[in-house]
Amino acid sequence: MPKALTLEHTDILPDLIKPLLTWYRRQANDRQLPWRLEPTPYHTWLSEIMLQQTRAATVIPYYERFLTALPDIAALAAVSDDTLMKLWQGLGYYSRARNLKKAAKVITAEYGGELPQEHKALLALPGIGRYTAGAIGSIAWGKPWPAVDGNVLRVITRVLACPEDIMAARTRTAIETALAPHYPSGTDASDLNQAFMDLGATICLPHGAPHCTNCPLKRLCLAHDTGHEQDFPVKTAAKSRRIEQHTILLLQQGDAFALQKRPATGLLAGLWEFPHLPRHQSQSDIETWLQQHDYQAVQIEPLPESKHIFSHVEWHMTGWKITLSDNNAKIAESCQTFQWVSPAQIAATYSIPSAFSYYFPYLK
Ligand code: ADE
Repeated sequence: MPKALTLEHTDILPDLIKPLLTWYRRQANDRQLPWRLEPTPYHTWLSEIMLQQTRAATVIPYYERFLTALPDIAALAAVSDDTLMKLWQGLGYYSRARNLKKAAKVITAEYGGELPQEHKALLALPGIGRYTAGAIGSIAWGKPWPAVDGNVLRVITRVLACPEDIMAARTRTAIETALAPHYPSGTDASDLNQAFMDLGATICLPHGAPHCTNCPLKRLCLAHDTGHEQDFPVKTAAKSRRIEQHTILLLQQGDAFALQKRPATGLLAGLWEFPHLPRHQSQSDIETWLQQHDYQAVQIEPLPESKHIFSHVEWHMTGWKITLSDNNAKIAESCQTFQWVSPAQIAATYSIPSAFSYYFPYLK
């Protein structure tokens, strides 16, 4: 067990609450966020999961579509994996969606279809960690639980001029422990957590200069006091990403394109993708590949390079659009690996991750 951390200047923390609540109530209407209209436990849970690693503006249309398709926890528990992945297509970190469904099944089987209000029971559900439990508890039920995410860590380490590394779990734990005794209940708990979120999103920014002149905490903030806002938070550099090269194949026959399903585990598990080859392949490499597979092409066109960045890996892609001759026997055989699908069907029912979206316009 690493040694517990003692933070300095935590006597400031109770003084943050009033100015934050006043500021939030004054500006809350400026941020029209649909999950704030009717913050039921299900709505709050869904929005908090979608908002992990994703900006609010991106989440809004996904959130609305998701709730139209799956208006309650029972519908989420019963949804097919393909429909679920289609609803999540483009949002990234797909295990979030799979965990939502897993948790919905537990909630249906063990809690009569209602999210449990007990902290421990919430934390035991797939995909719900301390931040999400705090956000659901405070927003949906007014529980006095902090919800410490990257925004709160940034705000608090600036206010306290705290030099601890926010990537270390013990810093997060220490900040949560220091905040918890001061937490109010009811609407104040909900508003306080959302005030931290909004302050982090609109004022106490992670990149570039924060907007300190408009900050309700400027008189209390030790980093601002000495002009060192941008020296906090202290954060160990992320590991550099591995670079992978891929050659994407848009294999077309008639109006259908080849898709394949990704393996059931690992990156983008179970989603659909275009066939691809390792490394960047030249036209003659592609011709050899076609020969090896007994495909006859009538046209081979190069596609531009594109890049997609995941948290731990970067894909540097190039591609070829290959129009196959009408050799139906061959297509039937390759059905074992590929599904041949029209662009309209792809758009309607197949979940292809954003990593490939650069090549979507070439599906015609
Ligand atoms: N980011 C995470 N949770 C949020 C919420 N409830 N409102 C706005 N931004 C958020």
